[in-house]
Amino acid sequence: MQSITLNTLKAMKEQKQKIAVLTCYDATFANASNKAGVDVLLVGDTLGMVLQGHETTLPVTVEQMVYHTECVKKGNTRVFLIADLPFMSYACEGDALKNAGLLMQAGAHMVKLEGDLWLVNSIKRLKESGIPVCAHIGLTPQSVNVLGGYKVQGKSDEQARKLLETAKKLEESGAAMLLLECVPTNLASKISEAVAIPVIGIGAGGGTDAQVLVLHDMLGLNERPAKFVKNFMEGQNNICSAIKAYVDAVKDGSFPDESHGYNY
Ligand code: KIV
Repeated sequence: MQSITLNTLKAMKEQKQKIAVLTCYDATFANASNKAGVDVLLVGDTLGMVLQGHETTLPVTVEQMVYHTECVKKGNTRVFLIADLPFMSYACEGDALKNAGLLMQAGAHMVKLEGDLWLVNSIKRLKESGIPVCAHIGLTPQSVNVLGGYKVQGKSDEQARKLLETAKKLEESGAAMLLLECVPTNLASKISEAVAIPVIGIGAGGGTDAQVLVLHDMLGLNERPAKFVKNFMEGQNNICSAIKAYVDAVKDGSFPDESHGYNY
């Protein structure tokens, strides 16, 4: 099977084929996800919560992200690999370049960073340096202390307008992908239609080009799952078939359904 590149993902958006994204932190799950047909693996800084047991993603370091990216790369054969820049590793342009470079050298094909318009210059510089960027907007967990909790974003007309403008400006500045977390379903669909780059959603309804879930959540290991999570182990005998069930449900549009989204 051919490797999945940024061009593959852009073509999938154009052809309205849904893209299945899953978080991954090690070689074994990378191998299983490749076999199950996942299109994109995200080495997410959620590893701080699901692997390390922290309450937030804030304690995760660049060194840890590099280590897990190397592990995932070893089990990866064909899937597009995104790695998260962790908290405070891209607060200035110089740090963004240096740390994104380390993640790319560890095996990532793209880096993801969280924020809004303050990211514009860093995104430009990263792209110029050969590093594709996914901009994570909406609920940005690294800013949980500013946001006052893990809350749905873009609920008011004013906030929705601002989020749509931000998405367009980040695309203009060179972002090659967006991730929308916890935004109302209709707003997420509107943003996905307004930009030409692929949009990944989590808690953003079924209208985005791609869906992502945290591996441990979709395997039913989270005792207090968010509304947007579905346990794909239900009805399956093993982890590999659960991942395959997730991929199939994303591809045929049955996940997420209305019950997993937020409507305002
Ligand atoms: O770090 C992560 O796992 C994420 C989730 C939103 C998928 O960014």
